[in-house]
Amino acid sequence: MKKLQIINGPNLNLLGKREPAVYGNTSFEGYLEVLRDKYPQCEIAYYQSNVEGELIDKIHEVGFSFDGIILNAGAYTHTSIALYDAIKAIETPVVEVHISNVHARETFRHTSVISAACRGVILGFGLNSYELAIIGLIN
Ligand code: DQA
Repeated sequence: MKKLQIINGPNLNLLGKREPAVYGNTSFEGYLEVLRDKYPQCEIAYYQSNVEGELIDKIHEVGFSFDGIILNAGAYTHTSIALYDAIKAIETPVVEVHISNVHARETFRHTSVISAACRGVILGFGLNSYELAIIGLIN
C-alpha cells in the first residue's frame, strides 16, 4: 500500500465555485472519491489550507513517512521560499501540480520558486494533473 498525501494550498478549497472557466466545475472532494476508487492500491490522504505555515507543517508531518506528496501550492508556488525549503528538508518526493497551464496565463504565474525542489512538475491537465502525479509516483 503506497501512502500518498495530496496538499492543496490557498483558494483551492473553492474548487468547483472559483473561476470555473479556469479551474472547472468539480469540487476537489468529489474528484478525490474518483481517485480513491481508481487507485485502491494507494492510501490517499488529503489536506487543504490557506495558511502558508500550515502547509509547511503538513509537509514536515508526512515528509519522512509517506511515499509521495502531490502539492498544489496555489499562488504560494510563485512566492514561497519557505515552501521550497520545506520540500528540500524532507525525504518524501514531492510532485508539484497545477490545474491550469500557468505558462499560458499572467507572467507572474510563469515562475515557480518550488519546482527546483520537486521530483517533477505536472500542469495544465485540469484535475487530471493530480492523477498524472499519482501515476508518476507509483511507477
Ligand atoms: C494554480 C495556479 C496558480 O497560479 C494559482 O495561484 C492557483 C491555482 C493551478 O492549480 O492552476 O491558485 O496552482
